[in-house]
Amino acid sequence: MKNKVALITGASSGIGLEIAKSLAARGYDLVLTARNDKKLQTAVTELMNLFPVKVAALAADLEDPDSPKAIYNFCISKKYTVSLLVNNAGYAIASPFHKTPMEEEEKFIRVLGISVIALTKLFIKDMLNSGGGQIMIVSSVAAFAPPSSIQTLYGPIKTFMNRFSEGLNVNYNHRGITSTAVCPGYTVTNFHTASGVQEEMDSVPSFMKKSARRVAEEAVEATLKGKKVCVPTKTFKLIVFLLKLLPHSLFPLFSKRLAPGRYDKK
Ligand SMILES: NC(=O)c1ccc[n+]([C@@H]2O[C@H](COP(=O)([O-])OP(=O)(O)OC[C@H]3O[C@@H](n4cnc5c(N)ncnc54)[C@H](OP(=O)(O)O)[C@@H]3O)[C@@H](O)[C@H]2O)c1
Repeated sequence: MKNKVALITGASSGIGLEIAKSLAARGYDLVLTARNDKKLQTAVTELMNLFPVKVAALAADLEDPDSPKAIYNFCISKKYTVSLLVNNAGYAIASPFHKTPMEEEEKFIRVLGISVIALTKLFIKDMLNSGGGQIMIVSSVAAFAPPSSIQTLYGPIKTFMNRFSEGLNVNYNHRGITSTAVCPGYTVTNFHTASGVQEEMDSVPSFMKKSARRVAEEAVEATLKGKKVCVPTKTFKLIVFLLKLLPHSLFPLFSKRLAPGRYDKK
């Protein structure tokens, strides 16, 4: 019997690479994508040395509106029928909103939002034709939190992605397709350095910093079970539970103490 195939965006490092390992360990063949081809090839070699699965990779920049179609066409050319789509690629903008050029905001929304919609739109048709599939959208605890003072659009785009995931569930669950919004809290990856916010991450208490492997494992388990939302680790489950209960007016009392990085003024 042929292995199932998963496509993972942002698969060259951090949470995406750990999701790739977790799926390969479950016998999935993989298609990896990210911008840096060298890092992708290193990931391909590592995965193929560790697991008896097929791994292909395509370098693509999700800032480019043509990339989702190029990724889809690559899968078709390889005769891969993707049954699990992992929308994971992402970053943050470190500069304050008023100092960030509009062009940068548009690229950001394209990578974290529009490309997710475009890839889902392309692959969901094949999932419908083959009787089902699974979608994972890597969102964030920021989707539930009050906006941070340094990343004005990050939380809102993740909230949008959670709502998009809900919409997919409402419209496609009865046709065998599930969407899981995975909402990690602080996770130790390249994200903070790549996004220029490592200093903020350094000021977060260590009990709130989770490993990418743990986050990925919980994310994959929840997605394969068809859960609608997954908040990895007990710490962040509790935080999201409290965030949903607390009146917004009380947030500042807790947020500065628990997550100083998110609230430091720049
Ligand atoms: N780390 C955290 O604390 C945390 C918390 C909550 C949610 N998240 C979310 O988790 C997801 C994964 O982040 P991570 O923490 O694993 O960070 P990471 O280690 O920096 O990985 C990000 C991945 O996205 C790729 N990527 C970035 N920009 C891209 C673009 N324009 N086009 C295509 N690929 C791109 C990167 O590869 P290239 O640079 O080669 O393109 C890399 O593979 C993101 O959606 C992030 O918002 C992270």
